[in-house]
Amino acid sequence: MQRTETISGVLLSSNMDLKSFYGLETSGRDADVRLFEPEEVSDPDAIRFAVCWLPDTDAFAPYPNLQMAMSIGAGVDALLGHPGLDETAMVCRVRDPHQAELMAGYTAHEVLHVLRDFAALKESQDRQDWAPLPMAPPRDTTIAVLGNGTMGKSVTRALAALGFTVRVACRTIPDDPLAGVGYVAGADAVLRAAEGANIVVNVLPLTQATENILNARLFGRLAEGSWLVQIGRGEHLHEMDFMAALDSGRLAGASLDVFRQEPLPADHPFWNDKRLRITPHIASDSTPSIVREQVLTSAKELLGGSVPSLAIDRRRGY
Ligand code: GLV
Repeated sequence: MQRTETISGVLLSSNMDLKSFYGLETSGRDADVRLFEPEEVSDPDAIRFAVCWLPDTDAFAPYPNLQMAMSIGAGVDALLGHPGLDETAMVCRVRDPHQAELMAGYTAHEVLHVLRDFAALKESQDRQDWAPLPMAPPRDTTIAVLGNGTMGKSVTRALAALGFTVRVACRTIPDDPLAGVGYVAGADAVLRAAEGANIVVNVLPLTQATENILNARLFGRLAEGSWLVQIGRGEHLHEMDFMAALDSGRLAGASLDVFRQEPLPADHPFWNDKRLRITPHIASDSTPSIVREQVLTSAKELLGGSVPSLAIDRRRGY
């Protein structure tokens, strides 16, 4: 018997060509799942899902029967906070192990760069100066990892494998804890994990509860001269408290990959602050083949009448 049932979706982004970047075939190439660019949609009523990255404010307006919005990344904050997305619509994310590995690699790089002072070693090289630097066993450095999702787990695994003392702030203590890693859960988990830490890595999802969570209270718990690796979302960082923590010496510096406004505006003071290492939201990216596969799987699950396995919990915000 021939199957005729199909499901239609639309690609919505204000700043990305989702079709070519992720190799998402449009104009109905897949037997079950038909994908369209907005300008190709002839019957907006038939659109049941959207594949999104930072959709425009009015992007969802033409599609009254939208049941699912899928982020092409791990973060769904831009969808949950979107004024045009109906609150009954399911929101999905991509869950990509390779993206998590990239996140771990970025973190390990920043941590080692700072602790071993590779910047000073490069300057020594430039002066042809053979100038070894002192070093300490990794276990003497305590790293607080804020978040234990797909990204947080991967970051923790990498840091623990390098020998650091790792303390993870999580919602609930995991059933499968990593050997040698400390876990703290509960309302003040983030503060307890930060207590006396030399480095804090933020991999939390952005929700109402985590906005501005990198603030004076948290910085006050860290060891003097500590370092922040900020790979969550720009809105996690309370910028005034952050500058105060840098000026007081509580924070020696930070690796910042995400910002409230991206690209970081040309006149933003972060650019020229020698205490900061700035990267343009490149800590990780989702893998095109995995995005493609997970978009199709989620659409087929929706077509089959089930809640997509990548749907997030809207009340929790991730
Ligand atoms: C990147 O920022 C993502 O949300 O995947």
